[in-house]
Amino acid sequence: MTEAWGPDDEGPRPHPGPVRVRVPAKINLHLGVGPLRPDGYHELNTVYHAIGIFDELTARRGDTLTLTMEGVGTGELALDETNLIIRAARALAAHARVPAYARLHLRKSIPLAGGLAGGSADAAAALIACDMLWGLGMSRDQLAEVGAQLGSDVPFLLHGGTALGTGHGEAVSPILARPTAWHWVVAIADGGLSTPAVYRELDTLRDSSWPPPPLEGPDQLMAALRQRDPEVLGAALGNDLQAAALSLRPQLADVLKAGHEAGAIAGLVSGSGPTCVFLAADAGHAQEIAAGLNAAGVCLEAVTARGPQPGARVT
Ligand code: C5P
Repeated sequence: MTEAWGPDDEGPRPHPGPVRVRVPAKINLHLGVGPLRPDGYHELNTVYHAIGIFDELTARRGDTLTLTMEGVGTGELALDETNLIIRAARALAAHARVPAYARLHLRKSIPLAGGLAGGSADAAAALIACDMLWGLGMSRDQLAEVGAQLGSDVPFLLHGGTALGTGHGEAVSPILARPTAWHWVVAIADGGLSTPAVYRELDTLRDSSWPPPPLEGPDQLMAALRQRDPEVLGAALGNDLQAAALSLRPQLADVLKAGHEAGAIAGLVSGSGPTCVFLAADAGHAQEIAAGLNAAGVCLEAVTARGPQPGARVT
């Protein structure tokens, strides 16, 4: 039987809703920070890795643009035009020249201001959800272009997996490694750290140790990913922002020590912190480390998470 061609074949159409999108948190396996640029960003050389802590955004049809939220700490977030989810929906609508009408609801699990890119994750989820709700049919690369204006980590959270990030983090190229599941323990802190404040602290620390160190490339980390051995990966993990996060929050040294004592292969501050992440050999080992960290009482909560994970996706 030949298929009939009709309006349904002319491309994507608006979705009746609801559209549900799940988006992961990110950590940086390598975070090399270069000098401060004239535009206020630092040049980066980073390896992003998406892990299994997820926010979920639901988009329904509406006559205006509204946002509601549930989850730890969401009461502190503004729901107005300054919110990154609203800004993402507006930016996409302006780009596609459609009205920004949607009822958005966020279920938040990624800690706020934790160095896990929770804000960028939610912006990425909003772009995917509204693209489908409004029937725009934009590619992930097109959405990443809109998203890069909203937050440095948005393009990565649209793509997910493990990827190289350059520029101020917005230029992303996937790392084609043979699939390996890595097991992480995520020590969630009580309270957040401001990303700009951590970058400023790094500049201050570097001012007193002129000349600045060269921007480290991730060659060792890339080689370690190919070897698929947690001990080798553990030795290659690194974060230039860690000293600055520790300087602003000295208690993080206790978290790193407790993770080490609980048997972690390696531990480091995630992005600008204050979340710390620890590498485990396998799922059972990750449970043991999480139990050790929870017993030590050095963080709000330690949870296990696997990586890599896909980026923002409709469920
Ligand atoms: O892009 P994003 O909103 O995540 O950045 C927040 C702030 O973090 C920037 O305004 C800047 O102060 C700092 N930042 C930086 N260099 C980067 C990324 C972020 O200095 N590569």
